[in-house]
Amino acid sequence: MPSPYIIAGFGYYVPERVVTNAEMETLVETSDEWITTRTGIKERRFAAPGQATSDLALEAAKAALADAGINAGELTHIVLATLTPDCYCPNAAVIVSEKLGVSEKVCLDVNAACSGFLYALEVTRGLLALHPDAVVLTVAVEVLTSRTNFDDRTTCVLFGDGAGAVVMRNQKNIAAKASIRDIALSSNGALWNLLTVKGGGSAFPLRRGEQAGDEFFIQMAGREVYKHAVRYMETICRDLLAKNNLTPDDINLFIPHQANLRIIEGLGKRLEISMDKVFVNVQKYGNTSAASIPIALTEAYQSGAIRPGHRVLLTSFGGGFTWGAVLLEF
Ligand code: UT7
Repeated sequence: MPSPYIIAGFGYYVPERVVTNAEMETLVETSDEWITTRTGIKERRFAAPGQATSDLALEAAKAALADAGINAGELTHIVLATLTPDCYCPNAAVIVSEKLGVSEKVCLDVNAACSGFLYALEVTRGLLALHPDAVVLTVAVEVLTSRTNFDDRTTCVLFGDGAGAVVMRNQKNIAAKASIRDIALSSNGALWNLLTVKGGGSAFPLRRGEQAGDEFFIQMAGREVYKHAVRYMETICRDLLAKNNLTPDDINLFIPHQANLRIIEGLGKRLEISMDKVFVNVQKYGNTSAASIPIALTEAYQSGAIRPGHRVLLTSFGGGFTWGAVLLEF
């Protein structure tokens, strides 16, 4: 029986400004050679001054709505994954609804760091199960540069800004582009301190008139995160495939979180998925956290790397730690 949870449209948006490794060399003591060999990243996109998370989300949303062939007015819910919302209150999803000109929708944000899109898909499945007629915009977006410490070479070369979105609904009399076959999510709060953006939160408040310190920005124990990322993503992919009586051979395209080419290659090797079946765009955008998977998914779909009949496996890992895997059928 086909899954009732279908994707009707895909879209993504990245800001115009391309920042090359050569430009990063002018900001911190680094080199194109170091960034390329350690991460695979060649360039990333930076939001323009004044361009907020909701602005990027809006563009991705418009693209996904156009691909689905529906108007924003037909949406019932907006689920937005981010760790860099426009502001603390209100959530970023309501601001997107206002910018879309449809301000009376049910809007919520999800924060699961880089796994945000996969968590948002699970939330969307829940909404669709509760509300059979729901039409949900599920968008994942980051302006990571708003929380990047450009004096910290160990993190600032890694990140970029962007947004990706899908329109989801239950299977009705409409053509499904893809359906969600299954989702597995996990987290381990014991390791939360390894990847954080603490500053400004209630435990690490920024008092009136105080200057933001280092903890206002992304802080990451890179090597530790690397180790856990590979292991946890491998395990959850294997478990999800086994639960669905599939093996890695049954996957036509594998789309892992785009944080580091070495992690992507290591994961492909461990899962015995050859690199020609692994989608990679980390060289163009760096790590866009929650937006990474929907940007890659939309690019893969638009480029023809995904074709009807394909089985696609998504996986992600991020702060929390949170991680997950999603099985899609096209
Ligand atoms: O998206 C959420 C999940 N995040 C991730 O998956 C990221 C996981 N971690 C990583 O991708 C990698 O750990 C990094 C890319 C962050 C770092 O790569 P690494 O191979 O683990 O390098 P390292 O942190 O062990 O640093 C190696 C050396 C150090 O110098 P020493 O101590 O060996 O002399 C660093 O100081 O590289 C130095 N270094 C740099 N050199 C030039 C660190 N950053 C830079 C830099 N340019 N930008």
